[in-house]
Amino acid sequence: MKKKVYVKSYGCQMNAYDAERMADVLAPQGFVETDSAEEADLIVLNTCHIREKAAEKVYSELGRLRVMKDERKAEGRDTTIVVAGCVAQAEGGEILKRASAVDLVVGPQSYHNLPALLEKARRARVVDTEFPIEDKFDHLPAPSRDKIRSRGVSSFLTIQEGCDKFCTFCVVPYTRGAEISRPVAKIMAEAERLAAAGVREFTVIGQNVNAYHGEGPDGRTWSLGRLLHRLAEVPGIARLRYTTSHPRDMDDELIDAHRNLPALMPYLHLPVQSGSDSILAAMNRKHTGDEYRRIIERTRAARPDIALSSDFIVGFPGETDADFDATMQLVREIGFASAYSFKYSPRPGTPAAQMANQVPEDVKSARLAALQQALEEDRQRFHRATVGRTIDVLVERKGRYAGQMAGKSPWLQGVQFDDETVAIGDIVQVEITGTGTNSLFGQRVGADPASLTAVQRPHSTGANAA
Ligand code: 5AD
Ligand code: SF4
Repeated sequence: MKKKVYVKSYGCQMNAYDAERMADVLAPQGFVETDSAEEADLIVLNTCHIREKAAEKVYSELGRLRVMKDERKAEGRDTTIVVAGCVAQAEGGEILKRASAVDLVVGPQSYHNLPALLEKARRARVVDTEFPIEDKFDHLPAPSRDKIRSRGVSSFLTIQEGCDKFCTFCVVPYTRGAEISRPVAKIMAEAERLAAAGVREFTVIGQNVNAYHGEGPDGRTWSLGRLLHRLAEVPGIARLRYTTSHPRDMDDELIDAHRNLPALMPYLHLPVQSGSDSILAAMNRKHTGDEYRRIIERTRAARPDIALSSDFIVGFPGETDADFDATMQLVREIGFASAYSFKYSPRPGTPAAQMANQVPEDVKSARLAALQQALEEDRQRFHRATVGRTIDVLVERKGRYAGQMAGKSPWLQGVQFDDETVAIGDIVQVEITGTGTNSLFGQRVGADPASLTAVQRPHSTGANAA
């Protein structure tokens, strides 16, 4: 009988990508993926350490899993429990002490060793949080064509890992280590394999993706802008995105790519964290509010319809009302299409956690509520502005209701539209007729997409030219 593995991922896109890589490593060992812990013989918690809340979730989940593991044991059934991801990296052996159900603790740089580590863990509990010299990507097996297909037409592609920026609030430089860029040739090999299996969109990811400086086939160092041009040439690839970026690394080549590369979607997630110069300095962000504004201006000049997204932290140590007002001012000026915002959470081992002037919890909560209200208004305004327009939608799956399909706008909005005749992976034109809280609704208009054949189109409506 096949064994089943359940990987539960918390946190960022890097973890979502890693979860798939872990499943790929385990597939040749006879593990099939399940999305239910109940069914699984092997349960992997792929954890996030970025804020205290995220890290605490792991321990409550491990408490529940211990009960389940004990119950199963009484019935003679074994369960193996693995803690992976950034909590594993940060806390290592501590996890074994706090959570008796855990068999293996494995850091993000060791996933390629999972089969051997699991074998070892059958005899005694194991911790592996080394940063090995060899490149784990060289040892991670490629997923099968069917597996790639089942994961959809939009795929993450890791090009860079780690961070050298050391923002004073952030654990990433400690949990994910120093910045490493994968060589262009290896990225291209993975990209071509994904595209050959039907992937139409890449979101290239890295903790600091625009700091990418990988070795090119010409022996020179390539920037992200250059790499994006090469990725756009991969047959079948219609859309490119990248995340997450740092303002300091928005170089001319990348901004030019927004102007010159039609496949590069008009969407930029560029965390600013705060609008106050003194807080930005205390955060060690290495830029001011005005420098951020200028980057946005230049990017908007290159691609006027670009949608902007950001991350914000409120209640960083020392943040005054005036500092917070500067953040609100920046939000009002820029008008973000979407954003993530958080209360500052002191993280062990980071400089900001030791700062004296911590902000009281109730002040953080009030600021977060005010900021989120302003951001939500902007987000809804951005959504509403698409009503009446006809936009390109990449079809990703069947819609919520019969007769509907669902996909994404160029600005990363979910779109539900009436039409079942198109195929997943097509780019179609949809006239937007309304908005919900999180998605747009519309009807397909215009010609049938060229990629549609009679075979793929089950209920052909014939020509549908505009
Ligand atoms: N407290 C609150 N938010 C944080 N982030 C990172 N570290 C912390 C912290 N200690 C937020 C930042 C970052 C996003 C991924 O998480 O906004 O951009
Ligand atoms: Fe963390 Fe700053 Fe690096 Fe982003 S740039 S991962 S916030 S240290």
